[in-house]
Amino acid sequence: MINTLLLVMCLVTSGARHKVHGTQNVLQEDLELERQLELLNKPPIKSIHTNLGYIVDCIDINKQPAFDHPLLKNHKLQRKPSFQKSIGKTSVKKSPTRPLLVLQKDQCPTGTVPIRRTTKDDLIREKSFLNYHIMTQDIPGVHIAEVSLSSLYGPYYGVIGSNNVFNPRVSRKDQVSSSHLWVQNGPVEAANKIAAGWHVAPQLYGDDKTYIYSAWTSDNFERTGCYNIRCSGFVQISKVNYLGTHVNNYSTYGGTQLEFIISITQDPVTKNWWLNMANINIGYFPAALFSNMTSADQVGWGGRTRTPPNTPSPPMGSGHFPDHTFHHACYFTFVSFQNEATRNYGIGPHGAQTFSDRSDCFGVRYLGYIAEEVGYSLQFGGPGGSCGN
Ligand SMILES: *[C@@H]1O[C@H](CO)[C@@H](O)[C@H](O)[C@H]1NC(C)=O
Ligand SMILES: *[C@@H]1O[C@H](CO)[C@@H](O)[C@H](O)[C@H]1NC(C)=O
Repeated sequence: MINTLLLVMCLVTSGARHKVHGTQNVLQEDLELERQLELLNKPPIKSIHTNLGYIVDCIDINKQPAFDHPLLKNHKLQRKPSFQKSIGKTSVKKSPTRPLLVLQKDQCPTGTVPIRRTTKDDLIREKSFLNYHIMTQDIPGVHIAEVSLSSLYGPYYGVIGSNNVFNPRVSRKDQVSSSHLWVQNGPVEAANKIAAGWHVAPQLYGDDKTYIYSAWTSDNFERTGCYNIRCSGFVQISKVNYLGTHVNNYSTYGGTQLEFIISITQDPVTKNWWLNMANINIGYFPAALFSNMTSADQVGWGGRTRTPPNTPSPPMGSGHFPDHTFHHACYFTFVSFQNEATRNYGIGPHGAQTFSDRSDCFGVRYLGYIAEEVGYSLQFGGPGGSCGN
């Protein structure tokens, strides 16, 4: 209403052609944003005002945004994975100095799921965010320190690891620092991929805190895919935790390490890809979303950072290089995978490739099996700084 009034006043007072044109564009963009918001934000059954200022809506599980996706028109909701064992609990050993992180809970009523409400500001910030694809290779300003398994043990049906959480300090709103594991299939230029972990991404959330996240694509982020539920696709199942849940406690260098188990597992019956974080089945990516992911030919673990070209990189992980000490660098412990033979998270890989595009800024080490308390493990991260493009 006020906008319209301003527009009218502006038209009356200015009269200049180009100004009218400019205002119309702004108005059109505004209408477009409103339209998008209406699609994204379903009518809530209940709303939770979090202490971080954003709102979580409890949406009817059958009317969540995922079902707007054209490929999910006839999708049958899967309420539980058909592999019922709580993943990770069995294989990951607890340690007093490495307690499992308990995610903040925003509990919704039965039959509804929590979905972070998208605001107009979110949409505007996110536009520039998606212009740089941190998830694809060879993008200026993106740095990578990762461990991966190529088809050696594949095809893969799952990946798991226990990851300590930090809050790497970004110095600009358009920087990102993330830690994740992933499954991927097909040639790079047409890659289908699901990644999940934690990240700091002010353009996505409006602040520099750490959030759990997931990203997906079916064409190397050319036309499809996005983060969390910012485009339809991910089916939310947990009524407690959701993609974009804030992490309210961090590990400290030399101190207590707070870690949580992450897994991406293909359901052997439905072929949907389930996402489990901190022992909660958050939800799944329906098989129908993907163009080529009946299995994965690569899995991996590690970190990525992004900064605009020619600016200093933010730190990755704890901001410290791997040094074999489990309260210094960022790590994944109990890393494992599922393949055709096992369809089970068993032992970790004996051979794994490490890749760091700037080893003077970010390191990565695959440690293999070193002790019962950490299983097969790896470390990555570093201080960042002047890392070139
Ligand atoms: C699908 O993925 C397989 C690897 O699992 C690859 O060999 C094949 O070329 C991919 N197909 C397309 C159309 O990209
Ligand atoms: C954060 O974790 C530490 C170490 O486990 C614990 O002592 C502290 O109470 C936690 N803080 C919050 C706010 O949960």
